[in-house]
Amino acid sequence: MENSINPPLDTPFKQDVYNGLTAFPKHLSSKYFYDANGDKIFQAIMNLPEYYLTNSEFSIVQENKEKICVLFAENTPSFNLIELGAGDGKKTKILLAHLNNIKANFNYLPIDLSENALKQLESSLAEEFPNIHVAPKCGSYIEALETVAFNKNNKNIILFLGSNIGNMLFPQAIRFLKRINSLMHKNDILFLGCDLKKNPQLILDAYNDKSGITASFNMNILQRINTELQGNFNIENFKHWEVYDPETGTAKSYLVSLKPQQVTIAAINLQVHFKAWETIHTEISQKYDHEMIQRLLEEAGLKIVSKFGDKQGYFENYVLIKK
Ligand SMILES: C[S@@+](CC[C@H](N)C(=O)[O-])C[C@H]1O[C@@H](n2cnc3c(N)ncnc32)[C@H](O)[C@@H]1O
Repeated sequence: MENSINPPLDTPFKQDVYNGLTAFPKHLSSKYFYDANGDKIFQAIMNLPEYYLTNSEFSIVQENKEKICVLFAENTPSFNLIELGAGDGKKTKILLAHLNNIKANFNYLPIDLSENALKQLESSLAEEFPNIHVAPKCGSYIEALETVAFNKNNKNIILFLGSNIGNMLFPQAIRFLKRINSLMHKNDILFLGCDLKKNPQLILDAYNDKSGITASFNMNILQRINTELQGNFNIENFKHWEVYDPETGTAKSYLVSLKPQQVTIAAINLQVHFKAWETIHTEISQKYDHEMIQRLLEEAGLKIVSKFGDKQGYFENYVLIKK
């Protein structure tokens, strides 16, 4: 980032857009997909036949809710249920309903970067679970987690679902889990959802649906720049492109410039030039195998208490504690 920029880069979004679009190759972070429009598109993605992730994890949580909730609620009179990147809470609500049924004593603390997602979640929870104490926190995973009451006297359960860990490359995921580990106490639990390596075609299709909904999700980052930073991206001049490397297990999303073009982003005083076929890398969706998961957890100092998988072997959820 350059400090001399006028107007100043006074928000993380401005800084990241400036840095990402002046870098080579160009990149933007997938965390900026989610505004009111992006949240709505992501809900449509979760209903796509190609997007197996949600159904797989939904079935795991549904079929194992009793066992999962016992692990959450044991050895403590009460606990904090903290969720990183809660979104619309579709799968979490299964756990909330069951915890309610067994009269568990807990607070629910959803964390999300999208203020819109949190507001919608809060109002739907007030309607569906009026007795649950909900304390939403808007912010980025770790920064928000650090401000949440982490006291030794109350057990903390951290949910990280939807394969959100897959939005990080392996070394970054290790650093992230290490940081979470350092915030956890002995009795605390991390409940982690991981998407597994599988038929490469299934993975590619999940991020490249025929109806073009994922493409519009990817493009939403340009729309956001247009709306929030007075950009003039012409969305039609870009193409959504997805690749999946079965060797590394990394799926990557790109926006490809269809022609040479110049884009102005007034709020950060930036002119961006695109060559024909130049890319903006926007998302990583990392897939794991058991050896990778083992290494990830080993490096992060986490121990598996229990693991749950779906019938197709697509997805797994881990109950983890500090080593
Ligand atoms: C792929 S959605 C998954 C939502 C939910 N966990 C699920 O499994 O359905 C990712 C969610 O995490 C949020 N998110 C992404 N990056 C984030 C970050 N760095 N800090 C906080 N929230 C983030 C997004 O706003 C979005 O609501």
